[in-house]
Amino acid sequence: MLSTLWLLLSFAVPAQGVYRFVSCPHGKKCQKALLSGNDVLLQCQSAGAHWSYFFLQTRNGWTTSNTSVSNMETTPVGHLIIRNPQPSQTGLYSCQTKNGTQVTQYEIDFQNVIALYITHKDLDQTSLENSSLNLGRRETIFTLWEPWQDCNRCRVPGERKRLGYCYVQEPLGEPVPCGIFLGQARLMSKRLRPEMQVEACQVPCTRTMSTREYTIFDNFHFSKDSGSLWLACPLGSIYRPIMWEANGTSLTWQDQLSDQEISTILDPSTGGRLLQIFQPATYKCFVHQEFMAQFSPMISPEKLEDQKSKKEDQHWQVGKVLSPPKEADSVLKGLKLMLLVVFVLALVGLLFRVFRPTWDKRKNSVLLVK
Ligand SMILES: *[C@@H]1O[C@H](CO)[C@@H](O)[C@H](O)[C@H]1NC(C)=O
Ligand SMILES: *[C@@H]1O[C@H](CO)[C@@H](O)[C@H](O)[C@H]1NC(C)=O
Ligand SMILES: *[C@@H]1O[C@H](CO)[C@@H](O)[C@H](O)[C@H]1NC(C)=O
Ligand SMILES: *[C@@H]1O[C@H](CO)[C@@H](O)[C@H](O)[C@H]1NC(C)=O
Repeated sequence: MLSTLWLLLSFAVPAQGVYRFVSCPHGKKCQKALLSGNDVLLQCQSAGAHWSYFFLQTRNGWTTSNTSVSNMETTPVGHLIIRNPQPSQTGLYSCQTKNGTQVTQYEIDFQNVIALYITHKDLDQTSLENSSLNLGRRETIFTLWEPWQDCNRCRVPGERKRLGYCYVQEPLGEPVPCGIFLGQARLMSKRLRPEMQVEACQVPCTRTMSTREYTIFDNFHFSKDSGSLWLACPLGSIYRPIMWEANGTSLTWQDQLSDQEISTILDPSTGGRLLQIFQPATYKCFVHQEFMAQFSPMISPEKLEDQKSKKEDQHWQVGKVLSPPKEADSVLKGLKLMLLVVFVLALVGLLFRVFRPTWDKRKNSVLLVK
């Protein structure tokens, strides 16, 4: 029951850990490459701050006072949250205090996560090589790597990943994120893309795990038609270590990137925050080595009815943890009804969260074709 309520709360309160925090010293201008499709938060410590943005590709500028771009939001303390940023939102973001003093400026290149080039070290796959841009000034395109993220599990074999961004460097110049270097120029090159590299790891458990309750999602079904379902790991992000298990078996990038037959698909554009499943099982996900959530999808009610009429089969009633005691009195029954309503609301929230990225991806590919 507690878990159900927690589920609802987790939709209402945007949890801090979900955003990639980007900061820049006071009075400075910082240049940064990030990935599209993954939420970020630009820091600006100034209550009631104004943000203005200028998008490089469309040459459009706005301020927070006369418009709102639907996926951006200023927090009460002054930070700017950008949800599911698009490559077209590459540009200049500048934060001013209430009385107009410049606080910080960001030049952010949201590199297209749909073009993410993924390699696995243990499969001897090599990352992209340096290449030249051929604009006449001997520019080099190369990948600037972030540090490796933590191993996604401890004590048992896991995997870790690192993200790499496309940069251009002129001889004697500073490296510049590709999107900012090119600005409005729509140059087509297979090399102009971000990268992700994965390798196997096994580490002892050293972090002290928080004792926070994990979430159990159990009352949802495979739809009769689609045959597959997307699960979203709470607090997951491409910028954080994520691990999924199905029936206790790890779902690895190694299996997915080799030609092995797999029964689930880790979504590359969210770093595996989303998992596509095709059959019922007990799915668990971990973020930063911590157990976050368990999903126990049931087979559709029709099928369940079939099964029941044949034989009383307890097989898919995995979510017992959440069931109230059988000898519930009428008060409890009322509570159950209320919880059902709450659960349906939460489920709608979940579906919305799960399906929005796919929709946006479609939108994205339309943009790319143009
Ligand atoms: C916002 O205001 C600025 C000037 O105050 C103006 O130049 C710009 O066109 C406005 N943007 C929109 C979308 O109305
Ligand atoms: C603007 O506000 C800051 C504090 O928020 C203050 O220190 C500064 O003097 C103010 N500047 C002007 C021009 O009023
Ligand atoms: C690729 O280019 C970058 C930037 O110019 C340079 O630092 C790096 O050493 C190059 N790597 C290789 C393998 O040439
Ligand atoms: C998980 O286990 C159940 C029974 O224990 C089985 O029916 C199901 O196919 C398994 N799912 C996967 C993905 O292995």
